Amino acid sequence: MDDLKTKYLGQIAEAGDENVLEAIRVAAVGKKGEVALKMRELGKMTPEERQVAGPALNALKDEINSALAAKKAALADAALDERLRTEWLDVTLPSRPHRQGSIHPVSQATEELTAIFAELGFSVAEGPRIETDWHNFDALNIPGHHPARAEMDTFYMHRAEGDNRPPHVLRTHTSPVQIRSMELQGAPIRVICPGGVYRADYDQTHTPMFHQVEGLAIDTDISMANLKWVLEEFVKAFFEVDGVDLRFRASHFPFTEPSAEVDIRCSWEGGQLKIGEGDDWLEILGSGMVHPQVIAAGGIDPEVYQGFAFGMGIDRIAMLKYGIPDLRAFFDSDLRWLRHYGFAALDMPNLHGGLSR
Ligand code: PHE
Repeated sequence: MDDLKTKYLGQIAEAGDENVLEAIRVAAVGKKGEVALKMRELGKMTPEERQVAGPALNALKDEINSALAAKKAALADAALDERLRTEWLDVTLPSRPHRQGSIHPVSQATEELTAIFAELGFSVAEGPRIETDWHNFDALNIPGHHPARAEMDTFYMHRAEGDNRPPHVLRTHTSPVQIRSMELQGAPIRVICPGGVYRADYDQTHTPMFHQVEGLAIDTDISMANLKWVLEEFVKAFFEVDGVDLRFRASHFPFTEPSAEVDIRCSWEGGQLKIGEGDDWLEILGSGMVHPQVIAAGGIDPEVYQGFAFGMGIDRIAMLKYGIPDLRAFFDSDLRWLRHYGFAALDMPNLHGGLSR
């Protein structure tokens, strides 16, 4: 037994890794190991011999097991020390240059137009993307049976079974924020409301989620002339050119009277979208004088106040300004596209420093 003890404790002390240690364990105290074989010999002994040999064998087994456990812990400590040594990091070294994130053209365009309208005295208002049927439609003079509801390809929210109230909708335009702003602040008002809107539509210039900016000005002496001036000032500042051809087309919206749609001159030659030249027109906004019933729905007296409103496609004007021909790519999250069309972070657009450097 003394021989066994010397032999195995010696081997354990020498063991260099866990595999060797496990082999020693099996050979020494495993089911068919040397200590087990010795235990089997107990049966052949006289009771007196057995009384001495039995406890001695158990003690040997215990001693080998503790030595194994201690060595195992020591090996683990050594492995950790080795890892810490090789994974050492000099935190005083300068960082490696790495790819910078960039600002999405929609965010960039939103910052730019916010800066321009701020200069014109408009503050920013916001509303929810999941909107009540009333704010999105009824309050805007679009009653339940109105064909405009079908035209808008509305996404309706799920309604619990047995619930007969009109379902909420993913807002189809930013115009409900007109109502919310009137409810919230009363007259006079000068706000823009940028944000995401939703319609079931998908082609080169339409995606099911896109962005609009609503404009609303309410006061006691506002006319269509103010609307036209504000839009022309905006377009000049946004596209950073002195002359942009705008086309005001008489149109119809339930929430404005009279109404006009505005197109901007452009060309699509060779898959390149260019603004200010060519024979094509791209529609960028709808506008008009706010319908008296809409002003009343917002809780303001239409006998005293009137105003103009417009709703402009942010993605559309970003496409035009930055020559990006396909709207669908805006929302593909393709890193190559984002690096190509994205803008430097931390370069906040402002009118004196330049909108889009
Ligand atoms: N809400 C209209 C649309 O999405 C745009 C619009 C806004 C028209 C305000 C007139 C006044 O098409």
